[in-house]
Amino acid sequence: MSRPTVYIETYGCQMNVSDSELMYGSLAAHGYEAVDGPEGADVILVNTCAIRDHAEQRVIGRLGELRRHMKKGTVMGVAGCMAQRLGPTLLEKARHVSLVVGPDAYRALPQLLEGARQGERVTATSFDLEEHYEDFAPRRFDRVKAWIPVQRGCDYRCTYCIVPYTRGAERSRRLDDVVREVEQVVRDGMSEVVLLGQTVNSYSDGTHDFAALLRAVGSVDGIRRIRFTSPHPNDFSDAVIAAMAEVPQVCEHVHLPMQSGSDRVLKRMLRRYTREGYRDCVARLRAAIPTLNLTTDIIVGFPGETDEDFEETVSLVQELGYEDAYTFKFSPRDGTPATRMDPATFVPDDVASARLERLIAVVRAGARERNLRLLGTRHEVLVEKAARRGEMLQARTRDFKTVMLPPDGLAIGDYRIVELTGTTGSTFTGVVVPDAAPRRLALPMAATAAAPAC
Ligand code: 5AD
Ligand code: SF4
Repeated sequence: MSRPTVYIETYGCQMNVSDSELMYGSLAAHGYEAVDGPEGADVILVNTCAIRDHAEQRVIGRLGELRRHMKKGTVMGVAGCMAQRLGPTLLEKARHVSLVVGPDAYRALPQLLEGARQGERVTATSFDLEEHYEDFAPRRFDRVKAWIPVQRGCDYRCTYCIVPYTRGAERSRRLDDVVREVEQVVRDGMSEVVLLGQTVNSYSDGTHDFAALLRAVGSVDGIRRIRFTSPHPNDFSDAVIAAMAEVPQVCEHVHLPMQSGSDRVLKRMLRRYTREGYRDCVARLRAAIPTLNLTTDIIVGFPGETDEDFEETVSLVQELGYEDAYTFKFSPRDGTPATRMDPATFVPDDVASARLERLIAVVRAGARERNLRLLGTRHEVLVEKAARRGEMLQARTRDFKTVMLPPDGLAIGDYRIVELTGTTGSTFTGVVVPDAAPRRLALPMAATAAAPAC
């Protein structure tokens, strides 16, 4: 008898990408065969995000579309944060869905699927604070970098955020287990790891902090690049910053969610830092790592945000000089404290939209200006994949800039020194510098243009 086939479609953050890799790995170990598309698959799983209403609406729409790919006996399942948030009500909302499984319940997936294939309609959404899926062998799709979850859940409880409710309390994997996975990644031919956690730099396994983790991962032979996402500003201890500066594999890029530049809004968001505190964190990072590149997340239209508050966000963005920013309109999530704020303080949608548009323009203008100054500079890149359009290959600098390269003589996974020859304002085109052999362990390339203003 042929093996049952499974297709997983993933939405949301890298943690979901990593969870899908774990689910594929576990199902392969239980006799399933992974397929590239939903058409005729025996099992279709949609791994979902609940962070904003828009993300959920997209999934609802997609579940409707996927229905036409179901054959007799196909099980349609919903996994991830939306599954956790909505639980059995999802089975009512979408009658063709027969399995709802939250982020801590993937261990039971083979048995749950068994039940669903027998015609049961099943929900599994219990939290399990011990669960790290240690014995799962993820099936990785990225050929050059590996997502390594080091922490699950979140203890911060920012007032807008659903994550603490969908992913539960914060817990970290044991350092030894992380190191063992990183060693396996190297054996599998990869040289970059991205350490994942909701507030990844608060990592603690009871004995080791995030600084120790960075040093341990850096000492794994064969690892050339270490990234992590997303940190919280309050968890950048001096020890963590020192480890970032001293471990040569740690790349010169930090994605540091700011959310707002206004103290009033930050307080209502319960972000637990002030504008000054955030600025100080950036200054400490830049003092230790002068070529550091920053990206961020910002929410506009949070309840109570005035024009003045928004201007504070704009001015901090201009001052700190982000390479890029993911910008969002506040989206009320049921059950979070922000939804219980005085409705009179809610920002009208047209006002929030106008702020979002302005903020995007400010971020783009700043990035463009800095990127133009980088033309002619040389950087080490790792060739990551074929570009979506055209013949080019897509590569990344250590500080997270995207560089498109002509494919001649290049293969995915190669490290090269390139010169930046053009920019769209956000991404670059470049050419390989023939004689500049990449060093075994690249230290930050001295950029000949000015470092980002600080
Ligand atoms: N509305 C809008 N954006 C949100 N984010 C988290 N929750 C919400 C919400 N309710 C954003 C934050 C976070 C990123 C992952 O998503 O900026 O850093
Ligand atoms: Fe959500 Fe705040 Fe936790 Fe990030 S730190 S996951 S924004 S609650």
